[in-house]
Amino acid sequence: MPRRELVQKILALKAERGAVILAHNYQPPEIQDVADRLGDSLDLSRFSASASERVIVFCGVHFMAETAAILAPEKTVLLPDPSAGCPMADMMSAEALGALKQKHPDAVVVTYVNSTAEVKAETDVCCTSANAVAVVRSVPAGRPVIFGPDKYLGGWVKKQTDRRMIVWNGWCPTHQKIFPEQIEQLRKIHLDAVVMVHPEVNPAVAEIADVVLGTGGMLRYVKESAATTFIVGTEIGMVYRLKKKFPDRQFVAASKHALCPNMKKITLEKVVSALERLEPAITVAPDVAGRARAAIQRMVEIG
Ligand code: 13P
Ligand code: SF4
Repeated sequence: MPRRELVQKILALKAERGAVILAHNYQPPEIQDVADRLGDSLDLSRFSASASERVIVFCGVHFMAETAAILAPEKTVLLPDPSAGCPMADMMSAEALGALKQKHPDAVVVTYVNSTAEVKAETDVCCTSANAVAVVRSVPAGRPVIFGPDKYLGGWVKKQTDRRMIVWNGWCPTHQKIFPEQIEQLRKIHLDAVVMVHPEVNPAVAEIADVVLGTGGMLRYVKESAATTFIVGTEIGMVYRLKKKFPDRQFVAASKHALCPNMKKITLEKVVSALERLEPAITVAPDVAGRARAAIQRMVEIG
């Protein structure tokens, strides 16, 4: 079916179902174009908690839809492709976290939102890249922090806060495809460019960047900046997002290989099918959701 017809079908079904379409900043261009709301993990979590619609079509990956389902248990949360996961989230299990907690009984557990509901249920407070530093700073002084699953975000937060942190050994395969040499090369071509990178990148990349920001932070930074060219060190969907929002600036992907295959599993056809069938819906067992909700709500409250 041609793209225009698919979009029309989505608009009609959306009205019929009383649905809202949320999309993460890494989604493919055609999904970003059809979304009612685009954002980073924190924006989308906040929005799902406050949305008035009964049905949320979550164009992103599993942990994002799961977070929405935990925050809005009365709503139907659809993930158009339920196999869209996050390998980093799968690097941390609730059992292994439980064992680490036993070894450090005085520690406060801060978990990146890129994690499973079961891990969140073992967590004191969740965070996203947008508020990880503020969340760790909110931990009472003197208490160590168990942080996971991302060792690079954890290492970066440790550097900013100077707190005692026990950091999990997880990482994002997509952000590991960005290398310092590529950035140095691009800097030689774009002499005045500002280099913005996501905290999930390798520390060797973060060290040579001008700013380290989550995707929402990048959008806010560009808005305030007088620079005209930006080298973007994160998943390539962000380049489309930035170009569309700031058509008078230039955005260059640090690496065209930094593509998250799971984010790209969402298609217009799958959005149509999800709205038609009201499936696949993401649900979380009430006991797990109840324990995870408190940790996510603290995250949503910390700016
Ligand atoms: P943001 O919250 O910065 O959008 O990042 C989400 C993510 O999955 C990064 O890989
Ligand atoms: Fe997970 Fe990395 Fe994809 Fe983000 S970009 S969803 S951390 S695999």
